[in-house]
Amino acid sequence: MDPIEISEAGESDIEQIALLTVKYLTEGENIAEDIRQSYKKGVYWAYKAETDGEIVGFITLKEGMSFTVPHPEIEEEILEFTGEGRIFIGDGMWVDKKMRRHGIGTRLMKVLLDGAHEHGADYLLNEYWIYPGGKSLIVPMANVFGIPVFQKTVPNFYHGMEKSGMTCPICGDDCKCSAEVVLYDLRKE
Ligand SMILES: CC(C)(COP(=O)(O)OP(=O)(O)OC[C@H]1O[C@@H](n2cnc3c(N)ncnc32)[C@H](O)[C@@H]1OP(=O)(O)O)[C@@H](O)C(=O)NCCC(=O)NCCS
Repeated sequence: MDPIEISEAGESDIEQIALLTVKYLTEGENIAEDIRQSYKKGVYWAYKAETDGEIVGFITLKEGMSFTVPHPEIEEEILEFTGEGRIFIGDGMWVDKKMRRHGIGTRLMKVLLDGAHEHGADYLLNEYWIYPGGKSLIVPMANVFGIPVFQKTVPNFYHGMEKSGMTCPICGDDCKCSAEVVLYDLRKE
């Protein structure tokens, strides 16, 4: 495999990352616009894995608590832990199918953690995608972030995503995927 470079994505990469997010993670056009707006506002950062000038993986970080589908009751539970602390969320992650299981995802997660520290996060919140039947590509890798202070598995987490114009890449319109919501306290490190 050619060497993979990991670096912070600049303005010119954001459009491509928005399109890859739509294509491989949700297929919802609104997401692309949300990414563009959040980047302009300075509350969104992306890190890319690149080889031969081609993006083959990315991970994104956003300030604030915003799940793919709103879950006010979980947000309340999390706020009990975080109080006034600054929360950042790991917004999305993807590695090209041909390049998986070579450690690129793990490298991106480490860079995300560094980025969260650098931009002043007190807490990192992640939403780990779990397919119907319980398989998750990301949960087994999650120890990169340490021990969570809050953790909750939520069945049918993405229910209703189609109302926001999103389609699940696994289930289509009627999403049965779950998610594990996990909060890390970065102030402890
Ligand atoms: C999740 C995802 C980003 C992981 O990317 P990746 O580059 O394959 O991640 P890594 O290679 O670092 O780790 C994946 C596995 O390969 C293993 N691995 C890492 N380096 C390896 C190597 N050199 N040789 C063999 N296996 C290796 C890891 O131990 C890990 O195994 P585990 O799942 O049993 O713990 C990728 O599978 C993906 O894009 N999935 C679809 C989208 C998705 O699920 N995104 C997450 C949304 S929350």
